[in-house]
Amino acid sequence: MAKDLRQFLQVAKEVGPDYYVEVKKPLSPKLEVCVIQQKLAREGRFPVIYCPKIEGSDLPLVTDLFGSREMMGLAMGMDPRKATKQDIFHEFRRRNGTTRPVQTVASSQAPVHEVVLKGDQVDLGLLPIIHHAPLNSGKYVSVGCMVCNDPDTGIPNIGIYRHELKGKDKLGAMLNPGHHAAYIARRYAELGKPMEVAIFIGHHPAAILGSQYTGPQDVNEYEVMGGFLDESFLVTQALTVDLQVPALAEIVIEGIIDPLEMVTDGPFSEYPGYYGEGAKPCYLMNMTAITMRKDAIYHDLDPSHREHNLSGALAYESAVYDAVKSAVPTVKEVYSPPSGANVFTFYVSIAKRVPGEGKRAGLAALAFPTNGNAVVVVDEDVDVFNEEEVLWAVYTRMVPDKDILVIPAITGPHLHPTAYDETGLKRGPMTTKMIIDATMPVGLPFAKRIVPPKDLWESMNLEDYLS
Ligand SMILES: Cc1cc2nc3c(=O)[nH]c(=O)nc-3n(C[C@H](O)[C@H](O)[C@H](O)COP(=O)(O)O)c2cc1C
Repeated sequence: MAKDLRQFLQVAKEVGPDYYVEVKKPLSPKLEVCVIQQKLAREGRFPVIYCPKIEGSDLPLVTDLFGSREMMGLAMGMDPRKATKQDIFHEFRRRNGTTRPVQTVASSQAPVHEVVLKGDQVDLGLLPIIHHAPLNSGKYVSVGCMVCNDPDTGIPNIGIYRHELKGKDKLGAMLNPGHHAAYIARRYAELGKPMEVAIFIGHHPAAILGSQYTGPQDVNEYEVMGGFLDESFLVTQALTVDLQVPALAEIVIEGIIDPLEMVTDGPFSEYPGYYGEGAKPCYLMNMTAITMRKDAIYHDLDPSHREHNLSGALAYESAVYDAVKSAVPTVKEVYSPPSGANVFTFYVSIAKRVPGEGKRAGLAALAFPTNGNAVVVVDEDVDVFNEEEVLWAVYTRMVPDKDILVIPAITGPHLHPTAYDETGLKRGPMTTKMIIDATMPVGLPFAKRIVPPKDLWESMNLEDYLS
């Protein structure tokens, strides 16, 4: 069976209540879904949450598909009860950038074309679009994947962008100027052409991980999604725009962006955990069709929940891993902890053999992701997935006046609350970056770490000793 959202929900349900729960009463689209998710998180629980009824819509809603790394392991076919964070990261790396040719199916065979609404029938009010946080400017489609074709190459680009509900048939599109979709929109503006777009909502989470691909613009991200799914991605021709859309999506919204017309977006509950400052410019999409399955499921994501940052974390870590590997081939692991919003802070372990490699690894790590602003480099004996151990290395191996490097005023991280502009006075896109080299010196004496005796550690079974 080809992979899609409903097939994944069945798998999650079978693994058990740690991975799948259902809500038993109707929920308001304003805040209620997110508070359930946040309360579960407070208890350390990150199951997929299925909400059969959202007031005002006939469509069920599902959220928290990316609430834990284990869930992303499940998306990649791993047993979430057994896979370690390390296993999940390396499985992601295996799939990331592995492309598979897409397979095209006829519109009549495409489940996403079971219901077709065009012209006056287009009504975004049919969808359970959520108001996520008290001070947000409105309701947002928070985990739609927007497809547009590069006008020069015809290659589709796909990414998650937030879309504020602007009317019955209008959505905003907040494209970070550094993302490929924004390059494409600017190119349409230069050519004086409208940009045809389609947003698909609800698909297998492995496919959605593919939307976070950080490689070159001329890679077809449907082919990347196929790599993540480990099977060809099924597409069909859209009905009112000249784009291919996923045949197995739950919902597709087709429309057109005039790349010269800007509206505003926000304030919004941004991924660092703060509200963004006021309203920012964004594109406006005029919808031309909504297509969906007869029993479509709407996929939402709470931007104030850690699932937002986690859903892109593996892609960033993978890019940092590649960047460090090119400078220090003995890189071992890379981890971006939730305490650094999964994008600001990276813990990198290396097998250090050459003096200076700790700082080289840190520089390489910061060179790639525009969002990284702090890197801690540790030796291979330190478990980067264990934040307490990383901090132990910092406090016992780092010499502050030699091992903390501060790099002033580089672009990014985007939306970091401390970011400043060229004058250093106002909020802008620049931040100071920091490297902490917590590696031990090479070729110089250093205190020996205490570790348990290997033989006894491995042979001892605590139950034989304790009553
Ligand atoms: C939940 C979620 C929401 C996101 N929202 C936005 C957004 O509103 N605008 C944006 O530019 N990027 C957003 N991103 C990041 C992009 O989806 C991501 O960087 C993607 O790889 C960009 O693709 P592109 O460079 O091919 O256009 C979001 C990512 C996630 C996981």
